[in-house]
Amino acid sequence: MSIPKTQYFEARPEVGSRPRTVRLHLADLDLQLQADRGVFGSKGVDLGTLVLLREAPLPPAEGEILDLGCGYGPIAVTLARRAPGAHVWAVDVNERAVELARANAAAAEASNVTAATPDQVPAGLRFEAIYSNPPVRVGKAPLHRLLMDWLPRLKPGAAAYLVVQRNLGSDSLAAWLAEQGFSVARLRSKKGYRVLEVRAAS
Ligand SMILES: C[S@@+](CC[C@H](N)C(=O)[O-])C[C@H]1O[C@@H](n2cnc3c(N)ncnc32)[C@H](O)[C@@H]1O
Repeated sequence: MSIPKTQYFEARPEVGSRPRTVRLHLADLDLQLQADRGVFGSKGVDLGTLVLLREAPLPPAEGEILDLGCGYGPIAVTLARRAPGAHVWAVDVNERAVELARANAAAAEASNVTAATPDQVPAGLRFEAIYSNPPVRVGKAPLHRLLMDWLPRLKPGAAAYLVVQRNLGSDSLAAWLAEQGFSVARLRSKKGYRVLEVRAAS
């Protein structure tokens, strides 16, 4: 009998918990984070995530910032530490990920992080910036729906920074976003990943 393979974007991963510590090493931060099976990047911080954290502009100093699809929180915790005057929403459908992001933020003394499932984010909230290593593996249609749910919640003039692997469709995603009326720039290309900057077209 074949055992169904768990996916990191399930609400409650079926795979048993096996916590492990991973290192997030950046020029300005060196943190130990708790990861787990059933959560993206459980064996180490993802290369795309590192590219985003090294190449995207610093977060705004104040206001509401979203880490869309936070996993165990490497992006949210970094944003919060880099912008202590801002408030960072770490949002994920995976409840194990949300718990880890909450614990990792507390351990990193990033009290300006709220870890939440998508339905827990107030509907009227608008963001100064969005950062995401989006869940490309959910498939094109769910990914597009996810982005269309959240990108319109950017404040006027604000930007989203998305990291996507080139061979997982970064260029076609950029083209699709432009077709939806966003202004899209390929900000950086590093190690097989692109960092896209996405803004509402003026
Ligand atoms: C590529 S992983 C990135 C995780 C984390 N930000 C990191 O850099 O390690 C994408 C994340 O998006 C989450 N995700 C999938 N569908 C989602 C949805 N509809 N809403 C919010 N998060 C979602 C997945 O559970 C996963 O944790």
